[in-house]
Amino acid sequence: MRIRKLSEITLAAIMSLTILSCSKTTMPYSDVVDQKVDSILMLMTLEEKIGQLNLVTSDMDVTGPFIRKGYEEDIAKGRVGAIFNAYGAGYTRKLQELAVNNTRLRIPLLFGYDVIHGHKTIFPVPIGEASSWDLEAIERSARVAAEEASAQGLHWTFAPMCDIARDPRWGRVVEGSGEDPLLGSLIAQARVRGFQGTDLSQTNTILACVKHFAAYGAAQAGRDYHSVDMSERQLREVYLPPYKAAIDAGALSVMSSFNDLNGIPATASKYLMTDILRNEWGFQGFVVTDYTSIMELLHHGVAADTLDAARLALNAGIDMDMQSGFYNSALLKLLNEKKINEEQINQAVRRILRIKFLLGLFDDPYRYCSISREKETLLSNDNLLAARDMAKKSIVLLKNQNNLLPLDKNIKTIAVVGPLANSQRDMMGSWSAAGDWPNSVTLLEGIKNKIPGSQILYAQGCAIDDSNTGMIDEAVKIAKRADVVILAVGEAAWMTGEASSRASLDLPGVQQELVERIYSTGKPIVAVLMNGRPLTIGWIDQHIPSILETWFLGTQAGNAIADVIFGDYNPSGKLPITFPRSVGQIPIYYSMRSTGRPFDANNKYTSKYLDESNDPLYPFGYGLSYTTFDYGEVELSSSEITETDTLDISVSVTNTGKYYGREMVQLYIHDNVASVAPPVKLLKQFQFVDLKPGESKKMVFKLTVNDLMFYRDDMSYGFEKGQFTVYIGGNSRDVRTAFFSLN
Ligand code: BGC
Repeated sequence: MRIRKLSEITLAAIMSLTILSCSKTTMPYSDVVDQKVDSILMLMTLEEKIGQLNLVTSDMDVTGPFIRKGYEEDIAKGRVGAIFNAYGAGYTRKLQELAVNNTRLRIPLLFGYDVIHGHKTIFPVPIGEASSWDLEAIERSARVAAEEASAQGLHWTFAPMCDIARDPRWGRVVEGSGEDPLLGSLIAQARVRGFQGTDLSQTNTILACVKHFAAYGAAQAGRDYHSVDMSERQLREVYLPPYKAAIDAGALSVMSSFNDLNGIPATASKYLMTDILRNEWGFQGFVVTDYTSIMELLHHGVAADTLDAARLALNAGIDMDMQSGFYNSALLKLLNEKKINEEQINQAVRRILRIKFLLGLFDDPYRYCSISREKETLLSNDNLLAARDMAKKSIVLLKNQNNLLPLDKNIKTIAVVGPLANSQRDMMGSWSAAGDWPNSVTLLEGIKNKIPGSQILYAQGCAIDDSNTGMIDEAVKIAKRADVVILAVGEAAWMTGEASSRASLDLPGVQQELVERIYSTGKPIVAVLMNGRPLTIGWIDQHIPSILETWFLGTQAGNAIADVIFGDYNPSGKLPITFPRSVGQIPIYYSMRSTGRPFDANNKYTSKYLDESNDPLYPFGYGLSYTTFDYGEVELSSSEITETDTLDISVSVTNTGKYYGREMVQLYIHDNVASVAPPVKLLKQFQFVDLKPGESKKMVFKLTVNDLMFYRDDMSYGFEKGQFTVYIGGNSRDVRTAFFSLN
């Protein structure tokens, strides 16, 4: 097709499109946008259209197999519609100018980036934030991330990750919200609200991207990128709900996952990208692939060549090609060979342009490139305070024998030991985007800030992951001189996240030896775990009196941990994922089915191991406080309900300890008899309660038939009448019980 010059087409038409303000019209916003999009589409050549479907990385930051060279030239030639891994008000302006000043239709670029847990101010890794169960705080965290990212010229984040994960060998457990579909769904929605706000055209909001669609977290054997093989029942009951919830919350982009699902790579799956996403769920945004996923269709063995791969992806419903360049090289040919039609391309272009309009980029392509806003926003005091607040709330107290914690601030000598005690880089966790690790506060620094009057001794003890035991003696020496030892052990940030599967969940390197040698000093020890996944820490659980799970807490890590250690914040976090005792128990999660031969210690022929207990080390929902909470009997407003009733379920929770505390009260349901073997428990609702010492509050949960629905034996979604058990407690194991029936 001949490319027309700008002067040849109706310049007035384009101008009226770009400056038309919605407030000046009575048409609904989306109709106005759709009209504008269609008018532009009419002016576009095929090459220009295909260019819009192409997303390429800048060379600032890369995660995959190759860097596309010459992206700046491609921008100027209109072969690129979006850029990722480029940020900074100045840099994005420069790239935007290349697109706007050089291309015929001046269509602005979309800038995306992995803003996963903060942008410059780094918040806790997602599994950490999920441990807070605090949806408001999580939304605020995403809001701050959006403020900072948009101030650096970004329009789009590749988050939230909505992959349910039940296999801690998989390194990307760190990027998700754990094992439970309900908790995962609510967190996904909080993040979408935080990123997108209520109006995408505001310059401080960014487009969310729901990833990795679908079921990426179920990679076989926990090995990243591996196949996923699962029943439709499991897909719909467990894995799909968080993606759907994020879309229901308004997320307008989705990323296809790397894995194949039952043999069909997600990027070639019409079932996922069109049948479920668009036809069932009504998704209106655009779908982007994960990094080079169209190219990877060759390695999956479902495409013979570039043409084949691009055709499969387009037919599946993929709109934007991240980093393969296959759409650019193949779509025109495919069209000429009549293997695809132009309307398919138009459709994809429309979806992408629509978002560019909604972001306000056609009004002003540089509206996100403000150097002064960038200066004011990044790492502001408010943002740092929000990060510290989120970090405190993300800490889970796993054990506190004899109330060793909180420590007295007047303590004379403290030994801070361990390879993670003073590692700024690791505090950032995996995927810390544009975060600069020299800004992060380590545990050692946090403790020094908190108790400047005490003597603080420090020894690294060993590296995170090598076999050298040469530094352990020095650590033992300082431990002996101290009143208490704070021992920071775990994983390096790089051992978690993408391409970081582990076959062992033990402490890496010689850390276990370090722990045992410090233990042999007989000093009181607080173990501070820093890691991106559940670890098998049975020995520590048996021997060390106090244990804090801190994940990787971000820029304010050390200050937040010191707040908890010295009692300025009473820990309230609860595990969003089960901790196994050993790798052999995996997958282990609280909502398993009972089997036909439930565990019986006295009967060999029941479901169990010869050499391991069935119980986890710490169950889902578990987390202690410096105070104690007593749960009263569960009371029901009625023992029988019908499908139109609301059942009030109440329980009194009392703070029976010495400290003000916050408890996350969890409600689980078990369907006693159903057409499909029901999970032993399923989380249905949760609520915080804040209590002073001695104080009691009555917590009321309102249950309706919606809480009792499931995919029945014929896969229809609905309820079945019968008996149900209600469980309420502070974790999924220690619960109070009541019964009711649905008639
Ligand atoms: C990851 C995605 C990420 C993308 C872009 C991929 O390797 O799987 O989660 O958003 O890179 O950086």
